[in-house]
Amino acid sequence: MRITVDQSRCQGHALCAMHAPELFDLDDGGHAVVVADLVPGGLDEAAYMAEAGCPEEAITVGPRRRAHAGQARS
Ligand code: F3S
Repeated sequence: MRITVDQSRCQGHALCAMHAPELFDLDDGGHAVVVADLVPGGLDEAAYMAEAGCPEEAITVGPRRRAHAGQARS
């Protein structure tokens, strides 16, 4: 599972870093930085909570991109 933060939307509310410090840090300007863009096992719920809790909807949590998408057809 992958996390991204849209820096153009982040306003530095810091809820993500408070609730999921294993996944988010804040830069010098107070904006969110993803610590591990691939969510470690057991932190899925924390990632979804951060996504839902961001007032600016700056966080997106989605499935891991397939390395070989399109090669499964035969
Ligand atoms: Fe930014 Fe949202 Fe976190 S505004 S600091 S991504 S809670």
